[in-house]
Amino acid sequence: MELRLRPLFEAATRPYLAAGKHAWLFARGKLRYDPVYFSLLRRGLLPQHGSLLDVGCGQGTLLSLLRAAKHQTAGWPHDWPSPPKLVLRGIDLSAKRVRTARRALGGDAQLDRGDVRDLDLQRCSVIVLLDVLFYLGEADQARVIEKAAMALEPGGLLLLREADAGAGWAFQVTKWSERLACALRGSVRQRLHYRSAAQWIAQLVTHGFSVETTPMSEGTPFANILFVARKVSPRPA
Ligand SMILES: C[S@@+](CC[C@H](N)C(=O)[O-])C[C@H]1O[C@@H](n2cnc3c(N)ncnc32)[C@H](O)[C@@H]1O
Repeated sequence: MELRLRPLFEAATRPYLAAGKHAWLFARGKLRYDPVYFSLLRRGLLPQHGSLLDVGCGQGTLLSLLRAAKHQTAGWPHDWPSPPKLVLRGIDLSAKRVRTARRALGGDAQLDRGDVRDLDLQRCSVIVLLDVLFYLGEADQARVIEKAAMALEPGGLLLLREADAGAGWAFQVTKWSERLACALRGSVRQRLHYRSAAQWIAQLVTHGFSVETTPMSEGTPFANILFVARKVSPRPA
């Protein structure tokens, strides 16, 4: 990790000490080795203002980074866009992860336990789905994308990260790593539903998004893609 990112890294991970050493180490591992989190800030993908909903937020790693960025007063990388000042919300299926996120984030983010398949999503500017949809069946994946399209403001942003099932060996590595992770968590029966990048794009376009893609596995052997999907504003009548 670049030395200049250290203060932001520490500010985003230190709060997890309140939830225990495991949560702290997990947050540090995610932020250090997974390129997606810092990349959202470095590339200026997020708007400056508005609200962000992290669906399947886990223990809230992204939300904690965004909170730390919002409050960083000195040492912000001079060649990065200004940090976003978004209202932060997260939901996750796991009560344990939501508890951990609440301990770390306190009142700085609204965190709820819920199943995205059963919820109506509230209006917001950005919806984030990082490594979540492959846990859902294909019909549920489509319904969640549809719900996201309905909840987003015109011009709003859906940031979706998924493995590309068309990516050969790199995809096999991604899939089997996830299977191993599920087994280690005791969820051997968890079914995983992957699509190729082209299929994800088609799905997003069907629901009214314009889509750009960027590889999001830098420094890892995985085949992850970030889909930057913008809700196309309806044409005036
Ligand atoms: C691989 S983790 C990713 C966590 C987080 N997005 C991150 O970047 O660290 C997937 C998360 O999706 C959550 N999840 C799976 N199915 C869900 C559902 N139906 N509704 C809400 N959350 C779900 C899991 O509980 C888990 O925390």
